Amino acid sequence: MLKRKVIIDCDPGIDDSLAILLAILSPELDVLGITTVSGNVTSDVGAKNTLHALQMCSSLDTPVYEGEKYPLVRELVTAQDTHGEDGIGENFYEDIKDINIRNNAVDFIIETLHKNENVSIIALGPLTNIAKALQKDKEAFNNMDEFISMGGAFRVEGNCSPVAEFNYWVDPHAANYVFQNLPKTIHMVGLDVTRKIVLTPNIIEFINRLDEKMAKYITDITRFYIDFHWKQEKVIGCVINDPLAVAYFIDRSLCSGFKSFVQVVEDGMAIGQTMVDVADFYKKEANCIVLDKVNEKRFMNMFLKRLFKDHESIIDLILGGI
Ligand code: BDR
Ligand code: CA
Repeated sequence: MLKRKVIIDCDPGIDDSLAILLAILSPELDVLGITTVSGNVTSDVGAKNTLHALQMCSSLDTPVYEGEKYPLVRELVTAQDTHGEDGIGENFYEDIKDINIRNNAVDFIIETLHKNENVSIIALGPLTNIAKALQKDKEAFNNMDEFISMGGAFRVEGNCSPVAEFNYWVDPHAANYVFQNLPKTIHMVGLDVTRKIVLTPNIIEFINRLDEKMAKYITDITRFYIDFHWKQEKVIGCVINDPLAVAYFIDRSLCSGFKSFVQVVEDGMAIGQTMVDVADFYKKEANCIVLDKVNEKRFMNMFLKRLFKDHESIIDLILGGI
């Protein structure tokens, strides 16, 4: 199978950690490196958390690069209320030693795009690294294959303000810079689709019967996140946004949407909002595919089959063979 080369840019983060597992355990992908950015936690903490996810899937040889510590203009606001003080559910795992976390995520992104044909980027955090790389060397991005970004909200309410989603709200200037300057169409995997991806207590109960080690890690890191979802949104379970972006990259039939021109609001009351010009008021060329429909059952089936690959038939049996 011809593997697709990808860079995962992320801020782990509980759902980022699950997305890393999905990416590494998917045979369609060749993960060239993981870059971190400040968002849920600062980029150095995110890099350490990345190693925990990589250890879970025996992939500590995947290079990890620490990226930008601060948004382009705004003060950094992290999401430790959502993801825990340590960013992965307050388990306070010991740091993984003897693995070198590299610096300069931005340069890694630029060099990798220059050196390889057809590298795609799946961005799961604020777009600071991507904006910086684009500002430094726009040409590198002509070589890029596809760009998927988890972020934004079209018809649904925000998760940081009535209208803004976290990743774009943290660094709206970076997000808007990327939307206005990237020489490729952005696939926006926003809250319209990710809100439907709920890891429920039933699923957690089920996976604990499959593989003890993987299930324990998932159960432990999501506990805090589940409590947060109940307190904040009266959701039983937790919304796992980021793995959907990885799954969609692998299987386009999981989500669908439409092409539109999109801007990200940089200041004022609606800071971080994605303004989707669905009625074409501005007559501007579409810069984005806004995804607004998802087959959440097929996503969950795929996600579990990749993480618990020795248990495919029981997953079909329990989830209904979808
Ligand atoms: C996004 O914000 C973060 O908290 C999650 O990791 C996800 O990338 C959802 O709004
Ligand atoms: Ca994230």
